[in-house]
Amino acid sequence: MGVVAKVWKVRGPLLGHVSKDDFTFHEETLPDPKDGEFLAEAVYLTVDPYMKGFGFQHKSGEVMSSIYGEMELANQVARVIESKNENFPVGTLVLNSQGWRTHFVSDGTFASIVLDFGDLSPSHALGALGMPGLTAYCSLMVVCQLKVGEVVVVNAAAGAVGNLIVQIGKAVGCKMIAYAGTDEKCAWLKELGADYVYNYKKKNLADTLKEAAPEGVDCFIDHVGGTTFATVLKTVRKGGRICIVGEISQYNKTPEQRDRIDFNSNNIIANEINIKGFVSSSYQQRAGEVVAQMLKWNKEGKVKFRERIVDGFENMVDAFLSLFTGQDNFGKVIIKV
Ligand SMILES: NC(=O)c1ccc[n+]([C@@H]2O[C@H](COP(=O)([O-])OP(=O)(O)OC[C@H]3O[C@@H](n4cnc5c(N)ncnc54)[C@H](OP(=O)(O)O)[C@@H]3O)[C@@H](O)[C@H]2O)c1
Repeated sequence: MGVVAKVWKVRGPLLGHVSKDDFTFHEETLPDPKDGEFLAEAVYLTVDPYMKGFGFQHKSGEVMSSIYGEMELANQVARVIESKNENFPVGTLVLNSQGWRTHFVSDGTFASIVLDFGDLSPSHALGALGMPGLTAYCSLMVVCQLKVGEVVVVNAAAGAVGNLIVQIGKAVGCKMIAYAGTDEKCAWLKELGADYVYNYKKKNLADTLKEAAPEGVDCFIDHVGGTTFATVLKTVRKGGRICIVGEISQYNKTPEQRDRIDFNSNNIIANEINIKGFVSSSYQQRAGEVVAQMLKWNKEGKVKFRERIVDGFENMVDAFLSLFTGQDNFGKVIIKV
């Protein structure tokens, strides 16, 4: 008799506003692993905004977030508990894309062994030393080619990617202007070294940019999208770069509800601004280099890794929904099984 897995499934494609009603909880008995397969048990799972962004691709009854294997989007760290595959012996920690489930049987496709981070928790493979870290580093250093002394704007700045952007920017020696949705998050971003921090729910974006960047902005990492993009664009100066990484303000909207952006392209032409969209999987070949750099900065105390650990697989849906309401999410949200 195989092991019983707990599983979160979707009722259908995730369209419009996501809520608890979109998910159903199941228990299913797994087959024993066959030759070439292993059985693994989730230790840490991640919830990320892209799971909603791409959620329209889901079909009814699919395991939530189980459809991104080919994009190399790992969504859990699991421990091998039974194995008939010599590449994945019992005890091995594997990153994989099996979605929101506590146990799975795999032949190793889309699974990779978690690197040894020394004293640091393997959960960071889903955060600062995983996809969010790769995103922060590559959007800032590879796409924007950040230089010492430049002026950078980042929003959703207390989140998994944003807080790393702030810290990397300071490590490089830049002026960092950050936006977050609570005063507590703003205070934390100040502690991390951000030069100007604003609660976007209380302050007018254009006014804050006048105050923080009267000389103009060199780099803008956009995580929020919608009308914020157009407002910041107006302040980007000669040779500026904009990396469009996310649009969390739009993920819960239907195509009809999306912000209609009214912007003047004259500033892009006159100031020769580079605007580039970003997909983390396109930078996967740099993962080793990025992990090494992040570990180095972490050791030097320049980039700290913060997580909000949510206990219990049954709380995954609440943790996911909290990404869209902000609440007390500081850094990377991780579910500990
Ligand atoms: N393109 C890629 O390859 C890639 C990779 C990773 C991430 N991303 C994108 O980057 C963004 C950040 O991702 P993350 O993992 O770091 O998520 P996260 O910041 O850990 O979580 C999302 C945060 O966004 C803020 N937020 C939610 N709704 C908002 C709104 N309407 N306006 C402004 N802020 C809002 C909330 O914080 P507050 O309390 O501050 O509102 C929330 O905590 C997302 O858009 C994500 O899709 C893209």
